[in-house]
Amino acid sequence: MKVTFYDIILYFHIVSAILAIGPLFVLLLVIKKLNGVQQEIERSYLSLISVAVRFIMHSGHALVLTGALLILFGPWPWHTSWVMMTLGVMLLSAFFLANGFTKVLRRFEQAADKSAVLQKLWNTTWVYILLMLVMLWLMVHKPILW
Ligand code: HEM
Repeated sequence: MKVTFYDIILYFHIVSAILAIGPLFVLLLVIKKLNGVQQEIERSYLSLISVAVRFIMHSGHALVLTGALLILFGPWPWHTSWVMMTLGVMLLSAFFLANGFTKVLRRFEQAADKSAVLQKLWNTTWVYILLMLVMLWLMVHKPILW
């Protein structure tokens, strides 16, 4: 059995995808737990959320880096429709992560209506999960769209 450089990068690409998607479900659980807890507990949950968001962000970077290497060394050109679609969805998700998580989290402690902020975090997490699943489908199925 011959393992190529491409196979190794592909393996790390898939590991990064797992690490970028998995913590989103932890996020959902923690957001649910945050409703109406004492300030001290709230603070520890919030720090868990920000660690998870940072983890997702770094895994996303590893995903893009290994994806770029696969394009560079593999048979698929940049203009392949499923690659371009993934890049488009990727830009959308980067926007969601910055606007929906980082900014909202920064405002959370001072927020007057915390349950509204939690609802927003919950929705953002689901939108982000759906975007990741769309990209996962594009990657696995590789539809030729044009
Ligand atoms: C910058 C964005 C990305 C680029 C350029 C990219 C590129 C690629 C390429 C070229 C392959 C190799 C296909 C093959 O040789 O069979 C691949 C496979 C894969 N990618 Fe990505 N990718 C990107 C983002 C993502 C994202 C966001 C996910 C997950 C949500 C993902 C999950 C996967 C998976 C699971 C495979 C394996 C599919 C298979 O072997 O059938 N990728 N990617």
